[in-house]
Amino acid sequence: MRYSRIAGTGRYLPERVLTNTELEVMVDTSDEWIRARTGIERRHIAAEDQTTLDLAEQAARQAMTAAGVGPADIDFIVVGTTTPDVVFPNLGCLLQERLGVAACPAFALEAACSGFIYALGIADRFVSGGMARCALVVGAETLSRITDWTDRSTCVIFGDGAGAVIVQPADEPGIISAHLAADGRYKDLLYFPYGPSRRRRPEDTETAAIHMRGNEVFKVAVKTLESIVDTTLAANNLERGQIDWLIPHQANIRIIQATARRLDMPMDKVVLTLMDHGNTSAASVPMALDVAVRDGRIKRGDLLLLEAFGGGFTWGSVLLRY
Ligand code: UT7
Repeated sequence: MRYSRIAGTGRYLPERVLTNTELEVMVDTSDEWIRARTGIERRHIAAEDQTTLDLAEQAARQAMTAAGVGPADIDFIVVGTTTPDVVFPNLGCLLQERLGVAACPAFALEAACSGFIYALGIADRFVSGGMARCALVVGAETLSRITDWTDRSTCVIFGDGAGAVIVQPADEPGIISAHLAADGRYKDLLYFPYGPSRRRRPEDTETAAIHMRGNEVFKVAVKTLESIVDTTLAANNLERGQIDWLIPHQANIRIIQATARRLDMPMDKVVLTLMDHGNTSAASVPMALDVAVRDGRIKRGDLLLLEAFGGGFTWGSVLLRY
C-alpha cells in the first residue's frame, strides 16, 4: 500500500504589520478587548501591489526548497483560497505559470478557512492513489481586500499570508486520515455577499466585505471542532492525549483552548500563531505548521492533528505522522 507524506513546508507573511493599537485609531475598539476576546495582537497586511498569488508563490518556493524539489518535479497543484487574484484562470494555474511547472492538474478550491485542510485531503488521495508524485498544496489569502475596515466586529480579526506544503509518496503514513465536512444550512452566519453571478445591485445595502455573526459562529465552531477531533480519534483507534501536536485553525484562542481540552492536550502542545498572524483563513494551518517545523518543535515521527472550521460552514481534520 502506498501512502503520502509531507516532505517540506513553507510560509510567507507580508512585511506590513498592523497592531491592535493601530486599530484603536481606526475603529471603536481596544487592544485589551481584542486580546481578551480573540488572542490576536497583530496581523500582517499585503502591500498595495501584492496579490494572493505573490504570497502563494513565496510560500510555495520555501516549501519546495525545504523538500528539495524543483518545478520539474511538481505534477499536481491545489490552492485553498477565498481571495483569488481573478475568477479565472484559477490560482493554481497562475501559480503553475509563475513557478514554471509543466502541464499537470492545477486548481483552486474555495472552502473558506477549511481550504487548506480540504486541499491536503485531496492531494493525499492523488498521491497515495499513485496519480501524482509531487503535489504542491497551498493555503493563501489576502483577506484585507475583503474586510470592511470600519466594521469593528470583523476588521480586528483577519490578516494576510500564505502557507504551503509538498506532498510526496511514502511507504508508511504520512497522512493517516483526512475528514472533510460541510453544512450549507449555516450559510448566513459567515459570508461575502457578492460574486460574479450574484452581482451587487443599486438596491443592495450590504457592504462588499466579510459578514460574520461572530458569537453564533463561535458556538457552532466549538461544538463542531470537538466533534471532528472525536471522529478523528475514533477512526484511528486513538485515545485522547496520544496526539503530539495540535495545529488548529487560528480563529480565536478560546475556540482553540476548547479543542485542546477535548483532546486532553496541554496548551504547550498546541501551535499558536494567531497572536502574530490573526485569522488568515486557508493560510492559517499551513503557516502554523511551518512555524513549528522551522523552530524545531515538530520533529519527524511526531503525530499531528490539523483542523479547521470556516464559512459554509466547512470543517475538517487531517491526522498525520510528520
Ligand atoms: O475563521 C472562521 C470562523 N470564524 C470564527 O471562528 C470566529 C468566531 N467568533 C469569534 O471569534 C468571536 O465571536 C468574536 C471575536 C468575533 C467576537 O467575540 P464575542 O465574545 O463573541 O463578542 P460578541 O460578538 O458577543 O460581542 C460582545 C460585545 C458587543 O457589545 P455589547 O452588545 O455587549 O455592548 C460587541 O458590540 O463586544 C462588542 N464588540 C467589540 N468591542 C470592542 C464587538 N467587536 C468589538 C471590538 N472591540 N472589536
